[in-house]
This record gives sequence, C-alpha cells and structure tokens, in this order.
Amino acid sequence: MQHYNRFNSPTTVFSRAAPVKLRFIFAVVGQKKLIRFEEIKGFSNVLEFPKEIMGNWSRHFGNANPIVLELACGKGEYAVGLGERYPQMNFIGVDIKGNRIWRGAKTALEKGLGNVAFLRTQIDQVGEYFAPAEVNGIWITFPDPQLRMSKAKKRLTHPKFLRIYGQFLRPGGEIHLKTDSPALYEFTRQVVSLYRLPLLEDVDDVYALPGVSPDLQIKTHYEKLDIARSNRVHYLRFTLDGELPVEKDEILKQLLREQEATG
Ligand SMILES: C[S@@+](CC[C@H](N)C(=O)[O-])C[C@H]1O[C@@H](n2cnc3c(N)ncnc32)[C@H](O)[C@@H]1O
Repeated sequence: MQHYNRFNSPTTVFSRAAPVKLRFIFAVVGQKKLIRFEEIKGFSNVLEFPKEIMGNWSRHFGNANPIVLELACGKGEYAVGLGERYPQMNFIGVDIKGNRIWRGAKTALEKGLGNVAFLRTQIDQVGEYFAPAEVNGIWITFPDPQLRMSKAKKRLTHPKFLRIYGQFLRPGGEIHLKTDSPALYEFTRQVVSLYRLPLLEDVDDVYALPGVSPDLQIKTHYEKLDIARSNRVHYLRFTLDGELPVEKDEILKQLLREQEATG
C-alpha cells in the first residue's frame, strides 16, 4: 500500500511482508488508538459529531465568553495553551482524528481547563456546528499543506474553506495561520491578496522577530517535527471582509495552473 508524505514522495506503510517485530509494533499502536477512541467517548470536553450544538456552545461552557477555534488541532497544543493564557475565553480544538484529540482533551481535563473543548468532525463540515457570528477567531496550526495542485482545494486556507469559516466567524474575527510550509504560506498570501482580504500581520520567520508574542511561541507537535525542513515558521493574520467573490475562483485556478506549469 502506498501513501504520500508531505513531499509527495511515496512511502510504503504496512505490508504482509513486514517483519514480525514491525507487525507487533503496528498492532500495539492500533490497539492504543482503539483504546483512546473508546476513552474519549467518556470525556466531558469532547463532542463527537454533536447534534444541536449550533448556537448553544455557551450552554456547553456555562458562559457566553468569546469562542476561538483551533482547526486541524491534532493534539490541541494551541487550544490548551491559549486556554491557559486566556481563562476568560473559550477554545475549541477541531480535528477528525480521535486519538490525537485524546491527548489535548486529557491534558485539558488534568489541568482543569473548563474553557477548553474538542470537536471531532471533518473541517469541511464545521459550519454545521456554529451559528452566524458564534466564533470570534480561528487558529489554523500546521495544517497539511496539500502540495499537489490537484489537492489545492483541500488547503484549509482555500477560498472554499474561508467561505465556510465566514458562515460563523463574527465580522472582524481574525484568522491566524501558523505553518512551516513555504508553499502553503505563499498560497495563503496569494488568496489574501487576490480576494482583497484585510491582512493584519505577515511574518516570514516568526522566531527571527524580536519579542515574538507568547501566543506565537506555543509549539505544536508538528512544529517540533519540522517536516518541511524550511527552518522557518511563517505566520499570517487576516480577516474576512464580507463574501469572497466567486468570479475570482477562476483567476486563482489559473494562477495555480501557471505555477504548476513553471514548477
Ligand atoms: C499536520 S497535522 C497538524 C496537527 C497539529 N495542528 C500540529 O501542529 O501538531 C494536520 C491535522 O489536521 C487534521 N485534518 C486534516 N484534514 C482535516 C479535515 N478535513 N478535517 C478534520 N481534520 C483534518 C489531521 O487529522 C491532523 O491531525
């Protein structure tokens, strides 16, 4: 079975020919995942595909404090880290992988962070869980860069996703992208520029900034892995300004095609 890594090169994962020791390791890892999947069902701070939560998050948190999402949260380092720093705000990590969410949710419970929750869903469907203006801000932390042009629509800063976020982000609500992928950083800058979205901050190299803000110093699991090996962490902060005009989608497609052709 072939999978593709972040550099688009095929990687072989498990096969019948794998040595017994390797098969044992896969079995143990698989077992651990299953245990975690079961465990999060009992966690009070994890909601899996919840019904009727849209517009009702204040009931879940027991207050009407502002809500900030961490999309593609993985183990939820931002949801937990920001939750600790800002007790007067609520944070929700969103991811589809229950075994990753387990880590953040467990830490939040151990630390007694009642302002941190996790939502297990596909990000394509996140619009089903929040009412208009229910969300104050969004962090997108080290998302898969989806390097192949054919996968551009899966990038979490593609207009397709920004339109979903626009359904529930309050006017002026900020979107933060932190990534180690130069390609995703450049793509997002292009989107921001093409759709004329208000750009509030553009940092090419976060750790070269004198006095980098403590929010930006929170390190996620993938940040530590440094998969892109770019030696840089990029950061963009922008807002949505009304609708993203659909007629610009064709221009974006054309730009991507040209980039693909020029390599
Ligand atoms: C590269 S990891 C980054 C995780 C974490 N933010 C970090 O920096 O360590 C990307 C995460 O996005 C999640 N993800 C990717 N596409 C998704 C989608 N469409 N819906 C929900 N989660 C998604 C994956 O499950 C994975 O946990």
